[in-house]
Amino acid sequence: FIPPSSGGGGGGVTAKNELGNDVIASQFVASHNPGDRVLVQGLKGDPTYLVIQESGSLESYGISSICTHLGCVVPWNASENKFMCPCHGSQYDATGKVVRGPAPLSLALAHADVTDDDKVTLSNWTETDFRTGDSPWWA
Ligand code: FES
Repeated sequence: FIPPSSGGGGGGVTAKNELGNDVIASQFVASHNPGDRVLVQGLKGDPTYLVIQESGSLESYGISSICTHLGCVVPWNASENKFMCPCHGSQYDATGKVVRGPAPLSLALAHADVTDDDKVTLSNWTETDFRTGDSPWWA
């Protein structure tokens, strides 16, 4: 038995924009600026940031926006180059690594890939968290 998959591998889903439409990678990077972090609907429907690299291409990971303290959605603050939670002041660096509590853990990661038909898929990140060298707490 092979579990159904949307093609992203590892139970991936196609990222959806705010209108519920599939995110088209080429349009997405063309309509945002280098360094942007942009919310899409990702795994389990969770709002997840896609990252535009300084080179203008899509980063190979997405960052969950769900604060690891009590679950608020954490906005990206471009001028501070951090994710800053409005609820109790936790802060995360540009990769989602926690740099100030009370949040106990970094924001969850997901793999972000572009399919042959130019769609962005998000799939489970089960490998080591490159930001901390630890096993992923969310997997
Ligand atoms: Fe983010 Fe409390 S929910 S700091």
